[in-house]
Amino acid sequence: IKYNTAKFITSAPDISRLPADTGIEIAFAGRSNAGKSSALNALTEQKLARTSKTPGRTQLINTFELSEGQRLIDLPGYGFAKVPLEMKIKWQKSLGEYLQKRDSLKGLVILMDIRHPLKDLDLDLIEWAVGCELPVVALLTKADKYAQGKRKSEVLQVKKALAELNGDIRVYAFSSLKGIGLTDLAWALDEWFLGP
Ligand code: GTP
Ligand code: MG
Repeated sequence: IKYNTAKFITSAPDISRLPADTGIEIAFAGRSNAGKSSALNALTEQKLARTSKTPGRTQLINTFELSEGQRLIDLPGYGFAKVPLEMKIKWQKSLGEYLQKRDSLKGLVILMDIRHPLKDLDLDLIEWAVGCELPVVALLTKADKYAQGKRKSEVLQVKKALAELNGDIRVYAFSSLKGIGLTDLAWALDEWFLGP
């Protein structure tokens, strides 16, 4: 699949405003600031999604279309403390609703900073995905911050921690900045969009 032909479709405050729930959708989820929008931009070789040093930048469900019935979704980040409670509840609600109700959701890319992966909310999300037999790619982002040896050992550690869940989970080191893990991500998405 050519990811660089992705086009922005819509920013939705809740799932009622998303495109029709048909075809295949793959969502990017993770803590605020984990690098979701940057990963989408790296994959699509475009500045489609807004990135920011300020956590909580993506507050809406952003939809990008590759071709008819093939969409990528940039979800609002979770777990950022310095946000007014009322807003937090609102986003978490739209995130939860998206995950639970979206029939076209066929795979979840879960992004975690390689320096502090598998926080409680990450694990909750991964366990939830395994529970509903949704395949997961876990990207350990900002891998450029570590040398290759440390990168590999982090990947192994995360794989080991997730092995007991017995889910369809792949774990890769990833860097939007350096292009690390981009082909791993593209191959996994190809498989989800096109079948094995
Ligand atoms: P929210 O939308 O707030 O949930 O954040 P996000 O997960 O979309 O993160 P975003 O892509 O906006 O990136 C957050 C910060 O991390 C920015 O300052 C990016 O420049 C930085 N960042 C993202 N990817 C990388 C990476 O691969 N390497 C390094 N070193 N920094 C990165
Ligand atoms: Mg974002």
